[in-house]
Amino acid sequence: MSQSSYDLIVIGSGPGGYVAAIRAAQLGLKTAVVEKNPTLGGTCLNVGCIPSKALLTSSEKYADALHGFAAHGVRAPSVSFDLAAMMGHKDKVVKDNTAGIEYLFKKNKIDWIKGKGVIAGAGKVDVAGQTYATKNILIATGSESTPLPGIAVDEKRIVTSTGALVLSEVPKTMVVIGGGVIGLELGSVWQRLGAQVTVVEFLDRILPTMDGEISKTMQKILAKQGMQFKLGSKVTSSVNNGKDVSLTVEAASGGNAEKMQADIVLLAIGRRPFTEGLGLDKVGVKLDERKRIVTDHKFQTNIPGIYAIGDVIAGPMLAHKAEDEGVVCAEMMAGQSGHINYDAIPGVVYTWPEAASVGKSEEELKKDGIAYKAGKFPFSANGRARAMGDTEGFAKILADAKTDRILGAHIVGPDAGTMIAELALAMEFGASSEDVARTCHAHPTLNEVVKEAALAVEGRPIHV
Ligand code: FAD
Ligand code: NAI
Repeated sequence: MSQSSYDLIVIGSGPGGYVAAIRAAQLGLKTAVVEKNPTLGGTCLNVGCIPSKALLTSSEKYADALHGFAAHGVRAPSVSFDLAAMMGHKDKVVKDNTAGIEYLFKKNKIDWIKGKGVIAGAGKVDVAGQTYATKNILIATGSESTPLPGIAVDEKRIVTSTGALVLSEVPKTMVVIGGGVIGLELGSVWQRLGAQVTVVEFLDRILPTMDGEISKTMQKILAKQGMQFKLGSKVTSSVNNGKDVSLTVEAASGGNAEKMQADIVLLAIGRRPFTEGLGLDKVGVKLDERKRIVTDHKFQTNIPGIYAIGDVIAGPMLAHKAEDEGVVCAEMMAGQSGHINYDAIPGVVYTWPEAASVGKSEEELKKDGIAYKAGKFPFSANGRARAMGDTEGFAKILADAKTDRILGAHIVGPDAGTMIAELALAMEFGASSEDVARTCHAHPTLNEVVKEAALAVEGRPIHV
């Protein structure tokens, strides 16, 4: 049976899908969102960005009380934590956020069609036995954890990020497979709460997509916090007896097998696009070699009227990338124009200190043969960081050797994720390092490290 007709049906209510729906509704399109989960918000709000940041903040507060208070003269002789209460806080934050999206849908008159959406053809979406007609379909079905042969996830002993967000007790030992963003963030949560965490990383460095200096500095800092690293290594098999897990770990190049034991194993070797059961093969929507949906600059697939955004297409798997694509895609559907500067999308790792990047790394600039100047400034020379007792890390700005235009910026330090916004904005406006250096920065703030790094590009920082 055919239901009322829409201008746009979005499949998936993650940050890509729900933001696209709101923007489309703002522009006057009659919009519905199909979501199969009992709550809106997708990976990000339910089992990703938001719950992980709640646990990161709670565990950070505990670690600070344990290790950081004394330097400020604050005595807290018997600090302890209540894991159930921490989880309760996280669950409430998730509930408030997902309910917030429901409210925004009502406010913007967006219909939530509950159930799994299957594309029956251009302009037709099947949900729970009903066919809905629509002018446009937007696929925003996101991604899922990439499996690893030999490592059977049960979400109890061998977990993905989803299981790692709901552990009912702190493991004594945890092996994290993959030294990327999830491994370091969720590894940090459990390490701060008392687990001995070992990260097994296939490559010879953690955070392999970030600037090399960031990777090295983060590894040093996290090792000082107690995290252990096995680089250039791979896990080839696991035996899960329900109480703990025995792993076989080999050198990445093969050979040198050794056994490792862990109460909990966190598998975090990346995520893959999720298009299962969506009917794409029947409709003929083209996928690339990594099973991502292929789109043009308007986010249209090879089938007219079917669009895709977010984790399910190429590019960094980040919530803000999905959101921006959602906005631009909706605006283009409504006849407007739009564009995303993929060179200025920031990435943040929410460990403590945080790591944040925007634009090119030194390795990428060298590979592309682009001549650049680098300016670097340490937090240890910043008055505010000293006052906070958070002096680890640095800011680094990479600028074109000829034009001085900023090509990349990389920060390890307190609140690096907030500080990188200034540099993303600078890049968006095509700013030079001198533009940032001559911008008045309030004193005493952490952001003065950015200004000094910009001054350092021309070899003239003031405070070192
Ligand atoms: P998703 O958020 O994955 O949403 C897809 C939705 O589609 C889901 O709700 C799913 O149920 C629904 N769906 C799928 N198929 C169907 C169907 N056939 N019918 C109906 N519904 C369907 N990114 C950041 O930028 N910052 C962070 O701090 C951050 N932290 C993260 C932490 C973790 C632990 C994880 C796992 C990810 C994190 N990410 C973070 C990544 C971020 O969550 C994703 O990039 C983002 O959610 C992608 O948005 P999306 O809209 O493309 O898809
Ligand atoms: P990732 O791509 O960040 O890291 C995966 C790591 O696993 C890499 O270092 C890779 O070299 C390694 N690896 C791959 N195969 C391996 C193997 N067989 N053995 C050992 N190591 C192996 O992926 P991750 O951490 O799973 O996160 C998935 C995505 O979610 C990321 O792409 C990220 O964009 C997003 N995310 C973003 C966050 C943020 O913005 N703060 C937080 C968490 C996730």
